[in-house]
This record gives sequence, C-alpha cells and structure tokens, in this order.
Amino acid sequence: MSRSLVVGNWKMHASQAQVNELLGALKAGMPALDRIEVAVCPPYPYLMQAAHLLAGSGIALGAQNLAVEASGAYTGEVSGPMLGDVGCRYVIVGHSERRRLYGEDNALVAQKFRAAVSHGLVPILCVGEQLAEREADATEAVLAAQIDAVLELCGDEALAGAVIAYEPVWAIGTGRVATPEQAQASHRFIRDRVSRGGRTPTLLYGGSVKPDNAAGLFAQPDVDGGLIGGASLVADQFLSICKAAL
Ligand code: G3H
Repeated sequence: MSRSLVVGNWKMHASQAQVNELLGALKAGMPALDRIEVAVCPPYPYLMQAAHLLAGSGIALGAQNLAVEASGAYTGEVSGPMLGDVGCRYVIVGHSERRRLYGEDNALVAQKFRAAVSHGLVPILCVGEQLAEREADATEAVLAAQIDAVLELCGDEALAGAVIAYEPVWAIGTGRVATPEQAQASHRFIRDRVSRGGRTPTLLYGGSVKPDNAAGLFAQPDVDGGLIGGASLVADQFLSICKAAL
C-alpha cells in the first residue's frame, strides 16, 4: 500500500455540537494527506452533517455497520446504497462489539462484507481474539476462521483489496494495548492468509491506540495504520496518532 490509513471509530458517541467541534479541529490540525489517508466513522445520524463538514478536506467518511439487504422492509436497518448516497467511502463490518453484543457471527459478517463490496464501499473487516483464546494459543485459529468465512463467500480478490483491522478484544477500550510484536505477529499471519496475486490488504491495528503507543505499533512492517476508538473523540489525540502514521 502507498499510504498509511488511520480511521476513527466514534462508536455511539457525539452530538451535533460535538461533530462540529471535533471535525473543525481535525480539519484545522490535520497534516497534509499525501502520505496518510484519514477517515472518521460517526454514528448514522451524523453522517450527513459530517459529509458536509468534510467536503473538500480530504478526510474520508465511513459508517460503523450496514445491512445485508439493499432496501426493503427492514425496520431500523441502514443499507450500503444509503451509505454511499451520503458520501461514505468505508464501512466497518464485524466489529467485536457487534459480534459480542448483537450476535453477528462469521457467516453474517461475511454477508455484510459482500454487501459492502457490491455497493462500492470499502469494508473494514474487524477480526481478533478474546483473551481466553489468546491464552489458549488459539489466536491464529480464531483469525483464520474469521477470515476464511469471508474468503469462502467473497473470494480471494475481495479480501486482498480490502482493509482488515486486527483488534484483539482484550485490548479494546481497556488501556491494555497489544505489544508491537504481538500486533506484528497477527498482522503477518493475516497478510499471509489473504494476499493473493500481488494484491495485499491494508492492515490496521485497533485496541487502545493512544498518542504514546501509536508510533511503535505503526513502525511494524505489517501494520499499515490504525482503527482508533476512544482517542478518535479527542482532537489532539487523534491528530497526534495521525501524525505518528506519517
Ligand atoms: O474500533 C475501534 C476499536 O474498538 C478500538 O477502540 O481505541 O477505544 O480501544 P479503543
């Protein structure tokens, strides 16, 4: 890949006033976007507002989830075509919070990945192991199952051209970040599993990335950037993390 990618996942945070404030600060402080790409993923109600604020800034827009279906009687769902219509380039699929709290299994995540690709969105596929799985030496088996479900439904090419975020569940929102060596080992495993025909996915690390640990993680050869949760809601912290990816 040519540019690092840093994505802010705002989860279920923000208000209209905070969107104005945060995006205003990001636009004012963002370094030149020739060596990094930056995206933010606000909650659905703020996507239009964010799209207007980000117009011409070079900062991309993403969503946090999408429906498998394109339209129809699916109360409460938001489809890929709708996300594209409001200016989204990216959509997160299979975040561990959706897997754990909303019962999204590997098969459903694969369907969402396929839906995103078919509607012209770039999926950010989240994978990662629970603490007990790491302690049982099952990290690679878990990652393999999560990736293979998408490979089987969508084919090698779709995954090789996608974004994959390795997020060890035990590191999300806990302040317990993976060591650069742990991140690198998992990223190498993922890259080896999905790179095909010279194409290779963009691999992000996610889980308690902060200004003081970002540079060490991003320095790893198979870490192409980050998926940032809590620190993406604080302009100074997110800007520092973006600069660490330069
Ligand atoms: O999508 C982002 C990840 O869940 C990481 O969240 O940076 O708050 O640990 P965090």
